[in-house]
Amino acid sequence: MTPRTPSIRPTSLRTHRCGDLRREHIGQLVRLTGWVARRREHGEHLAFLDLRDASGVVQCVVAEHIDARSEYVVSISGTVRARPDGTINANLATGEIEIGEAEVEILGTAEPPPFPIDQRADAVDEGLRLEYRYLDLRRERMQRNLRARAAVNSAMRASMESQGFVEVETPLLVPSTPEGAREFLVPSRKEHGAFYALPQSPQLFKQLLMVAGLDRYYQLARCLRDEDLRADRQYEFTQLDIEMSFVGVDDVLAAISDAVLDAAEAVTGTRPGEIRRITWREAMERFGSDKPDLRFGMELVDLGEVFSATAFKAFAGSGAIKGLRVEGAASTYGRNQLDKLTDRAKSLGAKGLVWIKVAADAALESPVAKFFSDAERDALLDATGAKEGDLVLIVADEWHRACEVAGTLRNDLGRPPVHEGPYEYVWVVDFPLFVGQDATTGRPLPGHHAFCMPHPDDLERLEDEPMSVRALAYDLVLNGWELGSGSIRIHDGALQRRVFHLLGISDEEADRKFGFFLNPFRYGAPPHGGFAVGIDRLVAILAGEENIREVIAFPKTQSGSDPMTGSPIAVEPSHLAELGLKIIP
Ligand code: AMO
Ligand code: AMP
Repeated sequence: MTPRTPSIRPTSLRTHRCGDLRREHIGQLVRLTGWVARRREHGEHLAFLDLRDASGVVQCVVAEHIDARSEYVVSISGTVRARPDGTINANLATGEIEIGEAEVEILGTAEPPPFPIDQRADAVDEGLRLEYRYLDLRRERMQRNLRARAAVNSAMRASMESQGFVEVETPLLVPSTPEGAREFLVPSRKEHGAFYALPQSPQLFKQLLMVAGLDRYYQLARCLRDEDLRADRQYEFTQLDIEMSFVGVDDVLAAISDAVLDAAEAVTGTRPGEIRRITWREAMERFGSDKPDLRFGMELVDLGEVFSATAFKAFAGSGAIKGLRVEGAASTYGRNQLDKLTDRAKSLGAKGLVWIKVAADAALESPVAKFFSDAERDALLDATGAKEGDLVLIVADEWHRACEVAGTLRNDLGRPPVHEGPYEYVWVVDFPLFVGQDATTGRPLPGHHAFCMPHPDDLERLEDEPMSVRALAYDLVLNGWELGSGSIRIHDGALQRRVFHLLGISDEEADRKFGFFLNPFRYGAPPHGGFAVGIDRLVAILAGEENIREVIAFPKTQSGSDPMTGSPIAVEPSHLAELGLKIIP
C-alpha cells in the first residue's frame, strides 16, 4: 500500500508508536503504549514482551518481575537500543532494535482471549471470530484490510473531487420502489400501516439531482438489500455511486475508470493499464458469462457450423452449439466425474451434456461419437483445437442458455480463486434492454432497470423486436466478479412511456408507482447517466480476500445475523404496539 505518510503527534500517554521505531531512534528514551502481543520468560528476572499497537510490534526487554499477560494494555518506558548481533529479525519492521531496561505500567488487565490474536485465528470458526470481532480486528490481516478499504475510499473521493463531482447525501428512509432486490421496511410510528424502505441504492435521488442541475454527483453510499447472502453479498454494502449530466457512455466509463484505477493503485502500488472493453454479446459468445473472468483461456467455441447438417438429434436444429476444450483432462475425468458434470449442466437448465475424449489418431471416445460423421469429427477437432488427451464438452440449446451453461462449466473447471492475480478489469457494454420474459404475462423483463436508455441504433425495433434491442448499459468486471453497473438513463417522458408499455405498465400505473420520480422530468431533464461501484467487492479482491465479510468491520454471517450484538433480536410488545405492529405467531 502507498498511503500518504501520516504525521502522528506524540500524545500525553506516548512519545512514539511501536511500529515506527527504527535504528535512527537508538539512544532515545521513549514511552510506548499498546497490548502485550507475546511474552517470553528468560529466567526469573528477564522477560521479552512484544508490544503491539496500530502501527506494529516492538520487542521490549523487561528486567523486573511484572504480571503483564497476553492482551494486557500497558505503557512501557525505556531506551531504544540496537539488538545484539544474531538476534536481528529481518521479517519485522522494528527487527533491528528493541526497548532496553523497559519499565512497565499496567493500564488495563485482560482475560485470556478466546482465540490467539494472530494469523492462527484464520483457522478459527468464523462465528467465533464474529462474536469477538473487536479481538479479530486487532489482528494484522484485519487491520490491513480496513486500511486498504480506507485507502480505496480516500482515493475514490480524491478522484471524484478532482473531476468536479459534488458529494451529496441522500435519504436512508425512502419510499418502497421496485428496483430489483427485496427491501428492508421500516414502519412509521406516526402513520400506522405505512412504511419507509431502506434504499437499495440512491438511484432515483441521484437522477433527481441531475434534474436539479447539480451536473455531477457522487456519494460513498450505504445500500441495503434483503437478499440471500453469499461471498460477494451482504445486506449492507457500500457503493461509489455517481451520476453525471450531458454525457454519453464513454464519459461515464472514463470517470469511473479514473476512480477505480486510482483506488487500485492506492492499495497495490501499481496502476492497472487501461481497462479493455467488450460487448455483452461477445462476452456471452466467448466466455458464456456477462461477468467474464479473463484471467484464463478456455474460450467457448461455436460449433454451429460444424454440426449444421448433423444427424445427431440432440444437436439438430438447436439455436447454438457451444463447445469447451479442457486441455489434458481426458485421463483425469472418469465416468463418475463426467456424470457429475452432466448433472451440473442439467441443473443449470441444459437438456444434456456431450463429452468427448480425444484418443490417439484423433479417434473420439464418447457415447455419442457414433452419430458423428468423419467430416464432423475433423471439423470439431479443427474448431476446438483439441488434441490427444483433451476433453471436449458440448452444450446445444437456445443461444443464451447454451452460452450460459458452457460458461458456467468453464468457470467450474478453470477459474482460479477471485483474488489470485493478475487483475483483469473489463468493461462489458451494450447489455440487452430486456432479459427473458415474465413466465405468466410473457412481457419482457428489464435487464438492469426500467429507466435505461435503449441503444439509439436499435430504437426503431423497440416495439417489433424488443428482445433484440441493446441498452446503453454497462458493467465493470474484475476477475469474474461484477464490480459495478450503470447506464445512460431515459430523460424523455414519451420514450419512458414506450418502455413502460412494453413492460406492461400503463400510464396510470406508472403515475401511481413512479409519479414522484417521473413528474420532475416534465420540468426540464438533462440527458444523464451514471454508475455504481461495489466498494466491498473491489476492496476484497485488492486485499486478497475471497469473501467481502473480511473487508467489512462488522459484517453479518451467511445467515444474516450478527453474533457479536445478537441482532436481529425480538423487541418489546409495547415497542411494536407503538408502531401499530403485532406479531402473528
Ligand atoms: P447494481 O444493483 O448493479 O446497480 O449495484 C451496483 C454494484 O453494487 C454491488 N452490490 C453489492 N455488494 C455487496 N453486497 C450486495 N448485496 C450487493 N448488491 C450490489 C455490486 C454491484 O455491481 N443504482 C444502480 C447503479 C446505476 O445504475 O447507477 C445499482 O445499484 O458490486
Ligand atoms: P439423448 O438423446 O437424450 O439420449 O442424449 C444423448 C446424449 O446427448 C446424452 O449424453 C445427453 O446428455 C446429451 N444431450 C442431450 N441433449 C443435449 C443437448 N441439448 N446438448 C448437449 N448434449 C445433449
